[in-house]
Amino acid sequence: MRIGILTGGGDCPGLNAVIRAVARKSISQKGWEVIGILEGWRGLLEEGLARPITLHDISGILHRGGTILKTSRTNPYSKKVQNGEQRVLESLKRLGIDCLVAVGGEDTLGVAEKLYKLGVKVVGIPKTIDNDLSGTDFTFGYDTAVNVATDAIDRLHTTAESHNRILVCEVMGRHSGWIAIGAGIAGGADVVLIPEKPVDMDEVCDFVMKRNKRGKDFSIVVVAEGAKVALAGEKDRDGSFIVQELGVDEFGHVRLGGIGSVIAKELEKRTGFESRVVILGHIQRGGSPTAFDRILATRFGVYAVDMIERGEFGKMAALKGKDIVSVELGEAVYKTKTIDDEIYQTAAVFFG
Ligand code: F6P
Repeated sequence: MRIGILTGGGDCPGLNAVIRAVARKSISQKGWEVIGILEGWRGLLEEGLARPITLHDISGILHRGGTILKTSRTNPYSKKVQNGEQRVLESLKRLGIDCLVAVGGEDTLGVAEKLYKLGVKVVGIPKTIDNDLSGTDFTFGYDTAVNVATDAIDRLHTTAESHNRILVCEVMGRHSGWIAIGAGIAGGADVVLIPEKPVDMDEVCDFVMKRNKRGKDFSIVVVAEGAKVALAGEKDRDGSFIVQELGVDEFGHVRLGGIGSVIAKELEKRTGFESRVVILGHIQRGGSPTAFDRILATRFGVYAVDMIERGEFGKMAALKGKDIVSVELGEAVYKTKTIDDEIYQTAAVFFG
């Protein structure tokens, strides 16, 4: 048996742990060959981007961030790519790959699902720091991102308090506010702004002033990059939210970043408190995975090999409660997993 493995989409702490787990179990326990496909789906569109993975390649990578296979947001089904589907199928044939392990979020796994429908034997592993993939309770990478953001918020607290300032901390999360809510609860944020809960700037200011009334001269506002914040009394009208777009990727997703700066400026203007913004950006994606993410990624990788052995294709390894199970790829890729109201209400107890 010869299996291929690729990592697609934004990188994520824990990818190397997955690669190590898939390769180690396949090579050492099953006697299979493993081919590493480089740079996500680009590795199957171009020649020369695949190579065998050896035990030597995966030694010492468990704790390392990033991905030894590299990654990209290349979409074989994008209009920019000619005959993408056909080229991917030809590469799989040329490389003699019997089965493909695709490690990624909704975009990468969406391509995997399309290929499965064409007869390719595919197994998915869910990855994203955003934790917004349906079908699994958690994706690996999320815990690391929340820890990075929590550490940042802890640090922002001391400087905000010393200067009587508002510190706005912008975290990743285009479609859902999992990182913002997680870090907001763990870091004790005074307001958390997320895509799932549209708000007006007036409401945000009210929280800051409510805090001020009980003697607090500083506030920490955590905002997800895709948060829906309207400037004034407009939150229910379409198109009236603050959006800071930086372009569109090959899957048609907007690249966001900068909403925190607008919010900091508005807060300063309206509350009188000096305000600063910190955009955590890719710091949340870099560096070593937490122990939780290493364990989850390792369990997903080992389980994916079991799925291949059982012939469970067109599915993805997933965490349900404490168990690793397999779910249809379709369950994961068509619906964004948004914040449960319970967890939002828990965070909201501490607003203001
Ligand atoms: O999908 C993961 C993610 O980190 C999002 O939270 C963020 O919006 C996006 O990737 C950033 O993408 P890029 O790495 O292309 O800047």
